[in-house]
Amino acid sequence: MTQATTGPDLGASATDPLNLIDVDHVRFYVANAKQAAYFYAHTFGFRIDQLADLTTGSRDEADYLLTQGNIRLMLTTPLHKSHPAAEEIKRFGDGVKDIAFTVFDAEKAYDKALRNGAEPVGTPRTISDERGTVTVASIKTYGRVVHTFVSRTGEYDLPKVKAGANFMPVFRKIDSPVNAHNAKNPCGLKYVDHCVGNVEEGKMNEWVEFYENVLGFKMFKHFDDKDISTEYSALMSKVMASGNNLIKMPINEPAEGKKKSQIQEYLEWHDMTPGCQHLAMRTDDELASVAELRRRGVDFLNLPDSYYDIVWDRVNSTLKSHGHDAVREDHDRIRDLGILVDADDEGYLLQLFTKPLQDRPTLFFEIICRRGSQSFGKGNFKALFEALELEQERRGNL
Ligand code: FE2
Repeated sequence: MTQATTGPDLGASATDPLNLIDVDHVRFYVANAKQAAYFYAHTFGFRIDQLADLTTGSRDEADYLLTQGNIRLMLTTPLHKSHPAAEEIKRFGDGVKDIAFTVFDAEKAYDKALRNGAEPVGTPRTISDERGTVTVASIKTYGRVVHTFVSRTGEYDLPKVKAGANFMPVFRKIDSPVNAHNAKNPCGLKYVDHCVGNVEEGKMNEWVEFYENVLGFKMFKHFDDKDISTEYSALMSKVMASGNNLIKMPINEPAEGKKKSQIQEYLEWHDMTPGCQHLAMRTDDELASVAELRRRGVDFLNLPDSYYDIVWDRVNSTLKSHGHDAVREDHDRIRDLGILVDADDEGYLLQLFTKPLQDRPTLFFEIICRRGSQSFGKGNFKALFEALELEQERRGNL
């Protein structure tokens, strides 16, 4: 969602407490964070970087901070049954609980969000030690997901965290042999490009309004209403973006299709509760990233062979008609790696979707590389839905 190295726009911050600087972290609730950390480290190349648990004075939960580029995943597991995560894991399995945003002043951001109509879930709380402070405050969004505003001072300032400082008090740095392996064999994931939510049928526009009214988001300029529904799509989607366009939150709802919508399948395995469907992670080199992830055993969606019979005509003619060069990556390697391609008036993108990351058909990842295009691969919807339907059929959920 944001380039890793550029600093925040300090000019805008003074006037708007809801100026979102970055995705501070994405928190997963998982049944066993110690084991999940190894899964994400081994398969996706994350560094197992920091830990808060009984040994650091955390009596209620264990938290593993995994990092890669400017991506911070926090894996949280409850240590006793009265922790709220215990009940959520029972209902939803492993998945995303919190998409947290870095802001300049978490309390001010929270106050403004509440004035704009947000529902509170965590009042402002400051955790501090001699190194600095971290202030967090949370609001509810769709279903089981929350947004936490995070502001940081001293050694806990985000640029310092990115450079390797402690995430917040109670965390300690840890290491694992997998970290050295990942440093030598990078997967190349740089930052969160977008976070997609699945909401109930008929509720998409309510959540669009929530992002407009509460967080000042706008409908992303590239969204095109005519493209959202095809015979296969069974999906309605709108992309919301923060004022500075750094944070993108597409929202899906199920729609009538020939067969059961994948959004409906998600909801049915998620206690009929909205949640995060996928996190898209950006790479500068789709082929290298996908090749390394495949080598590590990441389970990607398989496309019908026929996809590559027609894709180059579709994509390269779109590029040509807008005066852009054809796709520069090796076309045969793209096919061999099973990567999807799409183009629009601004350029093209390469993308690929994993299968669900846990046994329930809920959360998955997308690996995306943009070459000018700022859209989300709508030209791939049909091919994708065919592939997804095949998977649903295998699961007996069609
Ligand atoms: Fe996506």
